[in-house]
Amino acid sequence: MKVRKIIAILAIAALVSCEDDDGPDTSRIIVGGPTDSVDPGGETGGGETTDDPLLYNATEYLKDIVNFPMGNIVSAAKLSNSSQDEFREVLGNEYNSITAENDMKMASMYVGPDDYNWSDGDEIVDYAKANGLRVHGHALVWHSSIPGWLNSFDGTDEEFETLIENYIKETVAHFAEVKDDNGNSIVASWDVVNEIWDGPVLRGTLFREKMGDDYASKLFTWAREADADVKLFYNDYNIAGEPGKRNSIINMVSDFQANNVPIDGIGMQMHLNHNWPTDDLPLSIEQIAGTGLLVHISELDVKANYGDDVTELTQERAEEQEDQYQRAGYYYTELVPEAQQHGITIWGFRDSESWLYDGGNDWPLLYDNEFNTKIAHRGLVAGLNGEAVE
Ligand code: XIL
Repeated sequence: MKVRKIIAILAIAALVSCEDDDGPDTSRIIVGGPTDSVDPGGETGGGETTDDPLLYNATEYLKDIVNFPMGNIVSAAKLSNSSQDEFREVLGNEYNSITAENDMKMASMYVGPDDYNWSDGDEIVDYAKANGLRVHGHALVWHSSIPGWLNSFDGTDEEFETLIENYIKETVAHFAEVKDDNGNSIVASWDVVNEIWDGPVLRGTLFREKMGDDYASKLFTWAREADADVKLFYNDYNIAGEPGKRNSIINMVSDFQANNVPIDGIGMQMHLNHNWPTDDLPLSIEQIAGTGLLVHISELDVKANYGDDVTELTQERAEEQEDQYQRAGYYYTELVPEAQQHGITIWGFRDSESWLYDGGNDWPLLYDNEFNTKIAHRGLVAGLNGEAVE
């Protein structure tokens, strides 16, 4: 343990990668450095982590296990913050795809009529280019990320629609500009629209009200007009877990396909609970893959305290969470044909940074508050390696 920490400290101080060529070494895999160096948040889960049954010493980095991209979320602020060395190190070790948690949403980017602030997105794209990462764009249109000025827009419906068309086209064209060495855009894909289904029925949103029930197809068409190559995704939650909602989405996609509305993929958010869903998890992955489109597990996390019935992450809960991560990784790897695997993106790093942390009442992610790998990580590794849960 001491050796591991010393190595981590030296590595951070020298700003060198923890990877070298002397083979697997558990001391190199967990990158948690001294707990007092980067721990704004939280509880101390520290101590002798190898003795802590909630943690384990990882021997494989996620991205090295699979042939599809492994992603996690970022913000421009964290990518440039000098106190976030450890975050960037884990990011570089384990992931090769990034999604902006909030910086590339409409409320962040569309700051006034035909007025854009892409600066945070640009920083993320530049970081990705410099570090050989893919960017998955998230999300052009979402009812929960509407800028105030647009919410109170009092022009005609036609004017509203033109504003949205301009926004989609300008934004997609802008982010198509930065290319990798092969001439491919760093932003390889976009969630064009997020969460338009409310259970099995179309959600009432500002966009639907102003643009009509077929607004999603217009958004996809505009995005394609702006960039012929970028992969266009529909993204939603509970696609696993709510068969009625899933059917509506699959019907929408068939409709798009029959009418030449451009769509390349489906993002299954995968905000799971430790014990939900069960049988519907593989079934949903199979059915979504059955559309023939790309499949992205786009926001994976696993709540361990959905019922608010525990006050700490118990061993039993941690093991159930580990199993659920394993199932997600296993079924994705086994059931989605390789050509359709857009990747798996985890929605956060340390528990304390999760949107579901709930002031310390839940622990949904792969790393504890000191960046030690939880046994949830072990579950995901096993699933990605093709090991089914017993
Ligand atoms: C969440 C972010 O994690 C939070 O920081 C933000 O306050 C709200 O949005 N589904 C999505 C994501 O598609 O964009 C959401 O992200 C989580 C649910």
